[in-house]
Amino acid sequence: MLVNLQTIIGMAEAGNYCIPAFNVYNTETVMGVIKAAEEAKAPVIIQLYPRLINEEVGYYVAPAILAAAAKATVPVCFHLDHGPSEAEVVKALKLGASGIMIDGSTKSLDENIALTKHIVDMCGAIGIGVEGEIGHVGSVNDDAMDEFTSPEEAARFVKETGVTCLAVLIGNAHGHYKKPPKLDIERVKAIREATGGIPLVLHGGSGIPDEQVKAAIAAGIRKMNIGTDVCCTFADGTLETLNDPKRSLAVDLFMKHPIERVKALALDKIRLVGADGRAN
Ligand code: 13P
Repeated sequence: MLVNLQTIIGMAEAGNYCIPAFNVYNTETVMGVIKAAEEAKAPVIIQLYPRLINEEVGYYVAPAILAAAAKATVPVCFHLDHGPSEAEVVKALKLGASGIMIDGSTKSLDENIALTKHIVDMCGAIGIGVEGEIGHVGSVNDDAMDEFTSPEEAARFVKETGVTCLAVLIGNAHGHYKKPPKLDIERVKAIREATGGIPLVLHGGSGIPDEQVKAAIAAGIRKMNIGTDVCCTFADGTLETLNDPKRSLAVDLFMKHPIERVKALALDKIRLVGADGRAN
């Protein structure tokens, strides 16, 4: 069933675990994720980058996400990831999103607060919670990371915006890490304490060593994003099928193996973050 962001994050907070949030790109990746969530009886977030929302792809994939959520026996939130402005937020809501991220992390703190509060008020009017970001989570290809999220600034941000959950920079980055990251777990605890326990979000979930993911969840991470792993797993599955002499070129049959590969990845991540068996 489709649920909103605050409901699904509330489940994780009440149970001290983390919701896996999978970035999807086509119907096949939606199918892989939802099959895993059903099998593991896990609540999941399925999210779209704003690029897909701005291009034609979102128009076709959003209904697939909503269909998956409607059919599923587990809670599913359809979330906009890294919304850069009100335009993408409105488009995502029109496509049926039940969770919104507004990312003002490259702006000044005052501007980020003003933009995020505006989106929180707007989405709140229709009962939808918002994820904000403070401390910009960049790419593994950036020359350097920005300064890690400051607990004091996070406290002000949370108080003045009313976000449902907060993405933080604690040594994480988007993409395949060139060497394993070293997450600042003490900072996760300090941000939780300073903010009165706001649920925290870990972006860049592909390739973080399992022990660090578990330590981050124990310290207060309640949503972890996984994007690059979904892409690579789907692409690997496609190449494996292409190289299989017994393959069928009927595209629906061709896609069965890539879908199964995405399902296996999603099952692994669901178990890693402790979301299995939590749907009720
Ligand atoms: P990865 O692509 O590194 O898994 O990060 C995904 C993400 O954080 C999406 O916002």
